[in-house]
Amino acid sequence: MIKTIILIGGPMKGTRFRPLSLELPKPLFPVAGYPIIHHHIEACSKVPHMKEVILIGFYQPNDALNKFISNVQQEFKIQVRYLQEYTALGTAGGLYHFRDQILAGKPDSFFVMNSDVCGDFPLKEMLSFTVQKGGGSHCTVLGTEATRQQSLNYGCIVENKNTHEVLHYVEKPETYISTTINCGVYLFSPDIFCTLEKIFKKNQEDNYNYQAGNGWCSGCDPNMQMKETIRLEQDIFVPMAGSGKLYVYHTDRFWSQIKTSGAAIYANRHYLALYQNWHKERLARNGELKPQIIGDVYIHPTADVHPTAVLGPNVSVGKHAVIGEGARVRESIVLEGAVLQDHCCVLYSVIGWNVTIGMWTRVEGTPNDPNPNKPFAKVDVKDTFSPDGKLNPSITVIGSNVQVPSEVILLNAMVLPDKSLAGSCKNQIIL
Ligand code: GTP
Repeated sequence: MIKTIILIGGPMKGTRFRPLSLELPKPLFPVAGYPIIHHHIEACSKVPHMKEVILIGFYQPNDALNKFISNVQQEFKIQVRYLQEYTALGTAGGLYHFRDQILAGKPDSFFVMNSDVCGDFPLKEMLSFTVQKGGGSHCTVLGTEATRQQSLNYGCIVENKNTHEVLHYVEKPETYISTTINCGVYLFSPDIFCTLEKIFKKNQEDNYNYQAGNGWCSGCDPNMQMKETIRLEQDIFVPMAGSGKLYVYHTDRFWSQIKTSGAAIYANRHYLALYQNWHKERLARNGELKPQIIGDVYIHPTADVHPTAVLGPNVSVGKHAVIGEGARVRESIVLEGAVLQDHCCVLYSVIGWNVTIGMWTRVEGTPNDPNPNKPFAKVDVKDTFSPDGKLNPSITVIGSNVQVPSEVILLNAMVLPDKSLAGSCKNQIIL
């Protein structure tokens, strides 16, 4: 029997995804029409003997999360539960804290997936690879290639090219180590809990003076972590590398992190492209009295799109959204309840929940796509501002309930929720 744990983080995470993550937990943000972690759970549901998916995070349980869980349980006929950490316990602290629930039913192995990644996850292949390597107490990390420069922003893996054993692991190294990076998807055997227990006890000893609930103790090292926190990457993989127990399984399929809205537009494009293989029925088609569709487009069945509108490529339209006569939308995500009035044009943008875009208005962003001339390039996670204090051009993001008037231009803008814009704006954050 196999289980999957998805690390969904909590309210203080996903800051680079604001203002969209102010509205609902980032893992539930819809990409290609479905919440980010819906794609994870769908991938899990295809693995034979997958019995349960456990979401671990430090969000307060909320309606959106409960509704999501009941929907995916029904859709994939798999048990899904949410376990709430009492505080941020790090990427492995929650695993240790909830070890009894994870080990209940005696799973042979379990996947752990970061929620802020997307991709065509090769879970079955990781399983067979791990069995080939002897299964048992092994742990397998999903790895992919990045450019030399971009690798510095990820966990870097040095492997034995013949056996794929991880010899050396460094999280976000300062100088170049390897172009093989950690994708945030792992397969563990239950033995990992022995290692977690040792690390947990060591942290308790090392950080004995820290008083929970009291903040950091005076006179302690300010970098000291909370004694219950365990980091999968630094505390587990770094010492495990070279011990013969950690392996890397390479994928050259689509994979990306989703840290920013620019990355969400990129992920939207790739998940829509995957629907060509797995879910053709989710893709909109051209036809009489239907809007003109170019490339891959998802339109929720309850959305109302005028037949003279032109959509695509790479557009997702959410529940109850309305798109008016002659509107043009490409490379964008239009969220639930948004209204795009007649003849507006939306390019490289995320249009938030219940936003209204006026007639003849143009909303445009700048794509953050990876450099197509560099093999293995990933989406760059740019800072919001350049060193001289200017907003870096990016996807235009309009927060929920914003009213954008008719006949204006919004270019490379970020608009916080509930604003009523008076006119055009370029390269600005509207607070
Ligand atoms: P950053 O570049 O700083 O974001 O680092 P990273 O890419 O390594 O991401 P990070 O380690 O912060 O998070 C990886 C995944 O684990 C994300 O899906 C987070 O939501 C999740 N995560 C991070 N910290 C915690 C935690 O304390 N508890 C839980 N349950 N999940 C977490």
